[in-house]
Amino acid sequence: MKKKDRLFAKSPWLRVFEFNREVASVFDDMAERSIPHYKEVLEMTARICHRLMPRGGYIYDLGCSTANLFGFLSIYFEEENFQYIGIDSSQAMIDKARQKYKKKQNIQLLYADINELDFPHASAIIANYTLQFINPSHRLKILKNVYASLLPKGIFIASEKIKDPNAEIDELFQEFYYNFKKEMRYSDQEIARKREALENILIPLSLKANLKLVKKAGFNKISLFFKWYNFASFLAIKD
Ligand SMILES: C[S@@+](CC[C@H](N)C(=O)[O-])C[C@H]1O[C@@H](n2cnc3c(N)ncnc32)[C@H](O)[C@@H]1O
Repeated sequence: MKKKDRLFAKSPWLRVFEFNREVASVFDDMAERSIPHYKEVLEMTARICHRLMPRGGYIYDLGCSTANLFGFLSIYFEEENFQYIGIDSSQAMIDKARQKYKKKQNIQLLYADINELDFPHASAIIANYTLQFINPSHRLKILKNVYASLLPKGIFIASEKIKDPNAEIDELFQEFYYNFKKEMRYSDQEIARKREALENILIPLSLKANLKLVKKAGFNKISLFFKWYNFASFLAIKD
């Protein structure tokens, strides 16, 4: 049973958002109730990896949290046919992921900062809802590293909360997003408190700015495969 996310309903609550032990303990419920179409996007990510990535290398999951992607990859790949490396800078998330997949042979979980790592021998590199938490001025360096690390024809998949360049549209999409959270049974108070806690921690760029960074990192083949108002997922393939 997933533990329900009530973090912003009780007092005291987290004033500045971080991926600490409390967040890790409710993360799976939080992700499903805070990220529109979270499970579908992970499923699409796994399906694309299965169809497109060159074989023989690792699947890296940057900012893997509790490694939910591993479960979706396991639907498409036989255990012996993929090697997953999940990386997260939250020890609590890595501990939680290790508990979940104790018995699996084809998973490695690393407590590390993706700003400071290379991703050798990569068939696929995934960053679902992670770059948005990285200082924007550091994102290009990571993406260049992603490009350099991929095997020929290797794939990169990222999902991000995005900001619409048109302020009116951006506001409208935010409103739709908060309605989604209400439908997921978060109260107005929980929504407002979390929004404040995420101020300057989750920094969305526009879709165009995200794609520009990916192109600048070296990718020429880039496709959007999912969009929901202010959330987008895209795929890039190394030539
Ligand atoms: C919204 S969660 C990602 C969700 C996850 N990818 C999934 O699909 O379930 C963002 C994660 O990125 C991790 N993170 C943030 N900055 C990081 C960094 N510099 N290096 C590694 N992980 C980082 C956080 O600890 C957190 O677990």
